[in-house]
Amino acid sequence: MRKPLIAANWKMYKTTRETEEYIKKFLNLVKDIKDRDIVLCVPFTSLYIAEKLLNGSNVKLGAQNMYVEEKGAYTGEISPSMLKDVGCSYVILGHSERRKYFYEKDEFVNKKMLVALKFGLTPIVCIGETLQEREDGKTFDVLEYQVKNSLKNLSKEDADKIVIAYEPVWAIGTGKNATPQQAQQAQNFIREKYAELYGKDVSSKVRILYGGSIKPENFKEIMAQQDVDGGLVGGASLDVESFYKIVIYDK
Ligand code: PGA
Repeated sequence: MRKPLIAANWKMYKTTRETEEYIKKFLNLVKDIKDRDIVLCVPFTSLYIAEKLLNGSNVKLGAQNMYVEEKGAYTGEISPSMLKDVGCSYVILGHSERRKYFYEKDEFVNKKMLVALKFGLTPIVCIGETLQEREDGKTFDVLEYQVKNSLKNLSKEDADKIVIAYEPVWAIGTGKNATPQQAQQAQNFIREKYAELYGKDVSSKVRILYGGSIKPENFKEIMAQQDVDGGLVGGASLDVESFYKIVIYDK
């Protein structure tokens, strides 16, 4: 059985004060939940305060990006060891906004994933097709390419540790989520392609999240799909109550 994982992606939202207020309320709501993993991926500037509050709790801390070097003259970048130092367990990599605005390609995302694992961080690697690609009937070609290029070269031991997030780009921040069937079809395909890289045994253990306009109203049905093991939640994670409802989708 794959343990559900629900991760918040706050993107470029919330000051340190707002982070503190959110986390205090949130911990109070979720403190007794043990049957699923909960992760908050906050902006870099909120990591330190978030760690102070989350330390010892059932909620894990994540970052939204990182660079591939441990240290060096890379102005403006944040290293995997810095993320570890500040208490991160997870890091989102290859989010479509990074691919779109910062020109990140699969090869670079792949390098980041391998480095994250080396530093003991669990990468949440995002893949997904654009609207144009879906309309052109290229969804599965794109997903296959992304799986084979951003998720390659893992050791057998690491291959079931990573988390994959299927995030159709057309569903991100648009209010238009994939139907549960679309999510299942894509995620089952991703799992099959992953099995071609690392075998069925590994592939059946790896968690694949869905992301894109998740809301308290639609998440239960999406989670009912066999190959959906959790969610990566953007907009709806910014409000404590709304994210809490998503976390307890089946209660
Ligand atoms: P959204 O974003 O939930 O606001 O659509 C999801 C994401 O980008 O991870």
